[in-house]
Amino acid sequence: MLNFNKLCLYSCLCVIVIIVLYFQSEIGRMEENYRKLEIRLAHPGIGLTESRQFPLNNADQTVIIYNRVPKTGSTSFVGIAYDLCKRNNFKVLHINITANRHIMSLNNQYKFAQNVTTWHDVKPALYHGHMAFLNFERLGTSSKPLFINLIRKPLDRLVSYYYFLRYGDNFRPHLVRKKHGDKMTFDECVEKSQPDCDPNNMWLQVPFFCGHAAECWKPGNHWALEQAKHNLVNHYLLVGVTEEMQDFITVLEATLPRFFKGATEYYLSSNKSHLRQTSSKVDPSLKTVERIQQSTVWKMENELYEFALEHFKFVKRKLLVKEANNVAQIYFYEKIRPK
Ligand SMILES: *[C@@H]1O[C@H](CO)[C@@H](O)[C@H](O)[C@H]1NC(C)=O
Ligand SMILES: *[C@@H]1O[C@H](CO)[C@@H](O)[C@H](O)[C@H]1NC(C)=O
Ligand SMILES: *[C@@H]1O[C@H](CO)[C@@H](O)[C@H](O)[C@H]1NC(C)=O
Repeated sequence: MLNFNKLCLYSCLCVIVIIVLYFQSEIGRMEENYRKLEIRLAHPGIGLTESRQFPLNNADQTVIIYNRVPKTGSTSFVGIAYDLCKRNNFKVLHINITANRHIMSLNNQYKFAQNVTTWHDVKPALYHGHMAFLNFERLGTSSKPLFINLIRKPLDRLVSYYYFLRYGDNFRPHLVRKKHGDKMTFDECVEKSQPDCDPNNMWLQVPFFCGHAAECWKPGNHWALEQAKHNLVNHYLLVGVTEEMQDFITVLEATLPRFFKGATEYYLSSNKSHLRQTSSKVDPSLKTVERIQQSTVWKMENELYEFALEHFKFVKRKLLVKEANNVAQIYFYEKIRPK
C-alpha cells in the first residue's frame, strides 16, 4: 500500500519534471529564433543565404519596373540608371518584347511576373521596357514590384516622335529611321491630314498607364482614361513629368536612395541631361496646335498629363518644401508598449 502510494508520487513527479523540461527547451528554442530574427533585422546582410530562403522585407529584395513611354525622355533617365548601377550596386535589365509591342501575351505576362518576383540573383533590380502597365495582383505573385514612369505633354511627344522617325536623334545618329528622307514638316502633315500626324497617334500615354485590357487601346475610350488615372495614383510609386526631369530624379533619390543615391548630382554634372535630342525638330505653328487641340484624343491625353502633373507637384511639394526652421520632415515612433 505504502509502496503503491510512493510509486504514484514518483511517477507524478517524473511526469511533471518531463513537462517542465519540455517547455523549457521549447522556450529556449523560441528565444533562439527570436534572437536570430533580431540580428537579421538589424543586419540585413548577415545570413544572406538564410534570408534568401525566407525573404525578409528588406531593401535588397526591391524590384522597380519603369514601363517607359517612347519619346518622353526615357533614354536620358535610363542612361543615369546604367551609370549609377555599378556604384550603387543594383542591376538594370532591359525588357525586349518582340512582336505586338507594348502588350505581352497572357502566357508571357504570367511567366514574366513569376520570373521578376522570384529571380533573387539580380535583386535589387530596375527593369525597363516599352510595355503597358502590368497589374501583378492579377498574376498571383507573392510580392509586387514598384512602378515608376514619366509622362510628357501629348503634342510635344507626338511632334518629337514625328521628327524622330524622319531624322533620328543624336543618340544613334547613323541609324536610318523608318521615314528617313521624308522632308514634310509636321505643319504640312496636319494641313494635308496625313496618317502620321493623326491625333489618334497621341493615344499612347493613356493606354500605357491603363494596361493590358482591350478597352485601354481604343482611342478616346473614357473608361481607359479613368483606369489610367486610377493606376497612376494606386499602383505607381512615382510618376514624374519629362518637363521636370530633375525634380523627378531628386524625389526618387530621396525615396529610394538604395538605387538613386547621388543621381541628382550626377544628372547635373554629366551631359546625360541633354542626351538624345530629336534632330531637325520644327515647333508646330499656332494654327496646327489649335487644330490638334480640338481633337478628343488630345483633350483626353492632356487630361491625364494635367492629372499626373498636379499629383507630381503635390508629392514634390510635400517632400522638398522644408518646415519653417528649414528641417525636412521626419517621423519617429514613441509610446511603444509593452516595454
Ligand atoms: C530587341 O531584340 C531584337 C532581336 O534581338 C533586336 O533586333 C532589337 O534591336 C532589340 N530592341 C532593342 C530596343 O534593343
Ligand atoms: C528568369 O529568367 C531568366 C532569363 O530567361 C533566367 O535566366 C532566370 O533563371 C529566371 N529566373 C527564375 C528565378 O526563374
Ligand atoms: C559637358 O559638356 C560641356 C560643354 O559641352 C563640356 O565642357 C564638359 O566637359 C562636359 N562634361 C562631361 C562630364 O562630359
